[in-house]
Amino acid sequence: MTVLEVIRKRYSCRAYQDRAIEPEKLDEVFEAARLAPSARNLQDWRFVVVKDKQTKAKLVEAANNQRFLEGAAVIVVGCSNSDHVMRCGQAIAPIDVAIALEHIALQATELGLATCWVGSFFPEKVRPILGIPEDVAIIELMAIGYPANEQKGQKRESIEKVLCYEQWRF
Ligand SMILES: Cc1cc2nc3c(=O)[nH]c(=O)nc-3n(C[C@H](O)[C@H](O)[C@H](O)COP(=O)(O)O)c2cc1C
Repeated sequence: MTVLEVIRKRYSCRAYQDRAIEPEKLDEVFEAARLAPSARNLQDWRFVVVKDKQTKAKLVEAANNQRFLEGAAVIVVGCSNSDHVMRCGQAIAPIDVAIALEHIALQATELGLATCWVGSFFPEKVRPILGIPEDVAIIELMAIGYPANEQKGQKRESIEKVLCYEQWRF
């Protein structure tokens, strides 16, 4: 598959098979995260990978009772220990972690897996479950697993609506 084919195939999966992910596939998925770009190449992301059933059940509760999470083979918790702010005024933590997580999503898709971003969670509930220190930001969760069925992603805006050349013309 080309990169664009993988991007087209990816969708937010909320129903997973009760099937473990082969360790070598998971290694490839996390290698994609490791190779992601980051501001000043700081690589201040940290990922906690949860496979344990009981811990996943606790994370469901911390994630607004999104039950589908329990069915995923793995929940990745994307964290950052950076408080660096770029010249442009944006914090690097959410940007860098998001790029790495999307690398994970795309590599997983290429391997026949499916993923779902999860931003609806309470960090103060996730923190004690995983023993994440107070000075570490919990940025996003991501479910990964074999999809129970094939689906399509949501509709997108036309390119004309979201992109212009040379000058702001919206
Ligand atoms: C930052 C972010 C947070 C999200 N949080 C959730 C979430 O908590 N629960 C959920 O079911 N989907 C979540 N999603 C998935 C979006 O709803 C989904 O990407 C969007 O509707 C487009 O659908 P598609 O990914 O299937 O193309 C999140 C996506 C992103 C990028």
